[in-house]
Amino acid sequence: MGTTMDSTADFIVIANRLPVDLERLDDGTERWKRSPGGLVSSLEPFLRSRSGAWVGWPGVADAQVEPFEETGVQLHPVQLSAQEVRDYYEGFSNGTLWPLYHDVVAPPAYHRKWWDAYVKVNQRFADATAKIAAEGATVWVQDYQLQLVPAMLREQRPDLRIGFFLHIPFPPVELFMQLPWRGEIIRGLLGADLVGFHRPGGAQNFLWLARRLLGLEPTRGAVGVRTRPGLVPVGDRLVRVGAFPISIDSAGLDTLARTREVQARAAEIRRELGNPQKILLGVDRLDYTKGIDVRLRALHELLAEERINSQDVTMIQLATPSRERVEHYQQMREDIERGVGRINGEFARVGHPAVHYLHQSVDRKELAAFFCAADVMVVTPVRDGMNLVCKEYVACRHDLGGTLVLSEFAGAAAELTSAFLVNPHDLDGVKNALQAALTVDPAEGRRRMRALRRQVLTHDVDRWARSFLEALGTQSNAT
Ligand code: ADP
Ligand code: G6P
Repeated sequence: MGTTMDSTADFIVIANRLPVDLERLDDGTERWKRSPGGLVSSLEPFLRSRSGAWVGWPGVADAQVEPFEETGVQLHPVQLSAQEVRDYYEGFSNGTLWPLYHDVVAPPAYHRKWWDAYVKVNQRFADATAKIAAEGATVWVQDYQLQLVPAMLREQRPDLRIGFFLHIPFPPVELFMQLPWRGEIIRGLLGADLVGFHRPGGAQNFLWLARRLLGLEPTRGAVGVRTRPGLVPVGDRLVRVGAFPISIDSAGLDTLARTREVQARAAEIRRELGNPQKILLGVDRLDYTKGIDVRLRALHELLAEERINSQDVTMIQLATPSRERVEHYQQMREDIERGVGRINGEFARVGHPAVHYLHQSVDRKELAAFFCAADVMVVTPVRDGMNLVCKEYVACRHDLGGTLVLSEFAGAAAELTSAFLVNPHDLDGVKNALQAALTVDPAEGRRRMRALRRQVLTHDVDRWARSFLEALGTQSNAT
């Protein structure tokens, strides 16, 4: 870190967070660690393989950090005050947009003060990018925190090629219409040349809103996956609207999982757990959309009904701390920790908890080892734009072992059709799927895993990025 850089860039990613997060330790020292979440997991390996720039927030309030370079990527920090973190990040981004876009599974709050901060901070990101973008550069704006940036950037720099990608679901029209600033958001996104969603349904919702809210005349044909984008005439421009399901660095993870170190650690994890017959695994940011409560309830009932036995089956739940000052998250954490306590209270034996709960983030190697050790991966979100965890699990299972239980409400379900698909609102269905996954015939399990791997290994993050940038009419010229 800390090398000097060119003052302009040809290829720029803008996201709320930088790929690394500044951590202030109790003794006053600071260190960088990898940022949480799927956006960074996907984009970081992609951008590392090109030489681009990344504009984002370093993750703590009032951090004055000069631009620096890390593993070939130029990082340009954008500063947020403590009040802006509260109003723009915890407030409008994660107290309004996040629940609204995830089917209002928690009630969104609408506060004018939060909106004002969102506008102000989006403008700051646009200004910072306008300063460093070379003439005619490609700028790729990421996610719900920055939906006004495309139009703000175009205003200052009409020479730029601007793409926008939404990493979370784009909601049904009836829900989006709740937003007091709905027209402003659609107008902001239409500043891009290409607006991308994970699924055609999101693109279709957006096209409908452009017609209904702004009186524009978008095309009416069905949007395909990576094909047949919708078109919206905006003044003398034509904005494309498409579906581009994101993915992971599948080959990288496959290679990592095959290493002796990871395999040895996976065996060690099984030993540490007392070599149970079957291990269930959940890996999530601690978020109320992830359905961690659903799987705990299913496990509790299966144990209570003696359909499974805690001597044979152990569950591990890894939960990365997330958005800890937002009220819905505090409530959910308490509920989940109570649920874990209840299961262990009733079904654990000394030295043998029924659920191992780690409110921690683990590194990539350790995570790969957990994936290799787990017999059943349990992914039960009530709504998820894509969900990368299920793809990571599949990428790690070169042995064709392990089964995947996956919610129909994750974007990934459209691709991973050989998983045990479940409706997370149907508790009996989830219990049956867990039991089926625990007792699957080995040949049937291998057949399913082979099909899942074919999909994940041929549709990686590189393919996602290439298909998006091609539709944007540019190949990153930093390639
Ligand atoms: P989201 O982006 O909503 O957090 P995703 O499933 O798309 O959900 O991406 C989550 C990313 O965070 C994945 O790359 C996953 O491996 C990583 N992750 C989640 N929980 C943990 C954990 N406890 N430790 C390490 N990495 C984690
Ligand atoms: C999801 C969002 C990302 C976000 C990540 C982590 O993946 O789509 O934009 O960065 O969660 O959340 P956080 O609020 O910690 O950035």
